[in-house]
Amino acid sequence: MSKRFSHEKIEKNSILLLVLTLVTVAIGGLVEIVPTFLIKSTIEDVKGVRPYSPLELAGRNIYLREGCYNCHSQMIRSLRSEVERYGHYSLAAESKYDHPFQWGSKRTGPDLARVGGKYSDEWHRLHMADPRAVVPESVMPGYPFLARRPLDYRNIENGLRALARAGVPYTDEHIANARADLVAQATADADIDGLMQRYPKAQARDFDGNPKMISELDALIAYMQMLGTLVDFSAYEHADLRQ
Ligand code: HEC
Repeated sequence: MSKRFSHEKIEKNSILLLVLTLVTVAIGGLVEIVPTFLIKSTIEDVKGVRPYSPLELAGRNIYLREGCYNCHSQMIRSLRSEVERYGHYSLAAESKYDHPFQWGSKRTGPDLARVGGKYSDEWHRLHMADPRAVVPESVMPGYPFLARRPLDYRNIENGLRALARAGVPYTDEHIANARADLVAQATADADIDGLMQRYPKAQARDFDGNPKMISELDALIAYMQMLGTLVDFSAYEHADLRQ
């Protein structure tokens, strides 16, 4: 009887109700938020994941500029149908250096999280110039101008610097070598020792097949071809992926 009485008091006093509601919500909030500051990381480190090379980053910037994310996601869900179609489901660590991330929720076209290595550079060249040339029923727009436009990489160091501020582990060495690394990765038969040491598993070649210039298409194909290739899932069953 006395309990019911005290509750009635709260219900009839709007200020008291408000204060107690706030206190309750604050406790709930603390319980949810405090643990995220106490654990070391919400994303497990995974072997092989590294920041983008300057050329891949330039390609990613074109991907964003052209709005490819309006039709393509980059997150394979852990559903059987997705895994059978696209490969191993995406790990959080695989997009930890993405600012902003490209998970997306709109799939007019397929998910691209593991498109790297699925097609040849030649296929990408034809497909980007005119998707109907290789996939007759495609509704994807063509981007033929990318092959004609020289890549503007004068500010690529700043791209790395900005990401470093957001927590991507680019060092002074990465930044100092950004331009040279970009050129080396897009040029056939270049000296790529430094590039490979800074960006393991980087693929270096003349992606657009035009040795006369480094085009926007070079960068975009380099980006497409590395997506999903950093983590070695073949050893997944037997090895520990954590670093
Ligand atoms: C209007 C929607 C739309 C936009 C915008 C779009 N795509 Fe597509 N994309 C599609 C569709 C639909 C397909 C499937 C048919 C095909 O292969 O062309 C596709 C397929 C692809 C594929 C082949 C994927 C696979 O696994 O077969 C790649 C790679 C690709 N797109 C890259 C891009 C890039 C890069 C951009 C931005 C420059 C882009 N797309 C913009 C709709 C779009």
